[in-house]
Amino acid sequence: MTGAEAIALTERYQMGNYARFPVTFVRGEGSWLYDDAGKPYLDFLGGIAVVLLGHACPEVTRAIAEQAGKLLHVSNLFHVPSQARLGERLSLATTGGKVFFCNSGTEANETAIKIARKGSSDRRGPGRHEIVVLEGSFHGRTYGGLSATAQPKFHQGFEPMLPGFTTVPFGDIGALEAALTDRVCAFFFEPVQGESGVRMHPQGYLKEAESLCRRKGILFVADEIQTGMGRTGAFLACQSVGVTPDIVTLAKGLANGLPLGAVVANEAAAAALVPGTHGSTFGGNPVCCAAALAVLDAVTAPGFYGEVVRKGERFRAGLQAIADRRSDVRDIRGMGLMIGMETEGETKPVAARCLEAGLVVNAAAGNVLRFLPPLTVRDEEIDRALSILSAALPAEGRTA
Ligand SMILES: Cc1ncc(COP(=O)(O)O)c(C=O)c1O
Repeated sequence: MTGAEAIALTERYQMGNYARFPVTFVRGEGSWLYDDAGKPYLDFLGGIAVVLLGHACPEVTRAIAEQAGKLLHVSNLFHVPSQARLGERLSLATTGGKVFFCNSGTEANETAIKIARKGSSDRRGPGRHEIVVLEGSFHGRTYGGLSATAQPKFHQGFEPMLPGFTTVPFGDIGALEAALTDRVCAFFFEPVQGESGVRMHPQGYLKEAESLCRRKGILFVADEIQTGMGRTGAFLACQSVGVTPDIVTLAKGLANGLPLGAVVANEAAAAALVPGTHGSTFGGNPVCCAAALAVLDAVTAPGFYGEVVRKGERFRAGLQAIADRRSDVRDIRGMGLMIGMETEGETKPVAARCLEAGLVVNAAAGNVLRFLPPLTVRDEEIDRALSILSAALPAEGRTA
């Protein structure tokens, strides 16, 4: 099938909810994607923080093939060896809590919402069901995840949202303290807000938020769907910041491209889910779990996080060098290999020019370019991406 045929079929038979670029990728290897005409593209989006170990990673492919040859699916009415092993590995890599497996980020957050409300109701009776979220958050597209997403543009036309979600301004610890009333069971946050433009909390904010939640008996819930799995230079971004969530949600990079989500909750919070309260037919699928075990082997290997940090610094230094020759770059920020560059103008046309020149990047929040390359990206690929980007930025912002 040609790319043009794929585009025509998609437009004819699929719903119009995605604004797709007119490009059809048919193959990938490492940090590279290839379209139907064989044109190479450097992938600095990684399927939006999914392809942690690069495309066609041999270890992941081997794990998938081996498991697929043995058993594709078994109901969660039974025990699943790859799922059992992954539960242990994820618990040990995160908070030591108990794990629930699902298929996506939004489902992981749905689960966290259910755990928070049910746990609160079990322990303290009804009425303490409110969830506090941050302005600019993104927690998913199902009604629970969407209700927790404090960005009105995603709600438009889909109202009413679920009741019991309160939004507080970003970075304002006083506002958070005031919002954490005795009707609140949980505070949800992303350690770095991805979809709203790689927004970083002010220094010390998360530590203060954690101690407020502890003092008031409110669950401190980290959505690490984008930041987790080594992306920011530690298994969890919370570990770099020095906070310990009661509940953490993961998905995206967990299985390097196969659909898998997970929730890790401490013993007390996890006790909310007893038989019959929650479930997922495909959650913790044997093949997805086998892929995730290969991902965990790679990201927890000695020296891996140090390399993520080093490469992130190399890329940021290169972005800074570009910014120094321009008048229209407002900020460069991020952690590890989750990096944003905020500019004066719209970044969609820049992302489109990058794509044309063979670099996949993402325009987030209107005026931010977001970079989420595979964590295995090589130095020379970083340098190549920087030179394509530099040429794709608008000529009028150039000062040197
Ligand atoms: C922080 C965060 N939470 C939740 C989600 C939703 O994940 P999914 O698209 O797998 O449902 C995303 C996706 O972009 C995300 O970045």
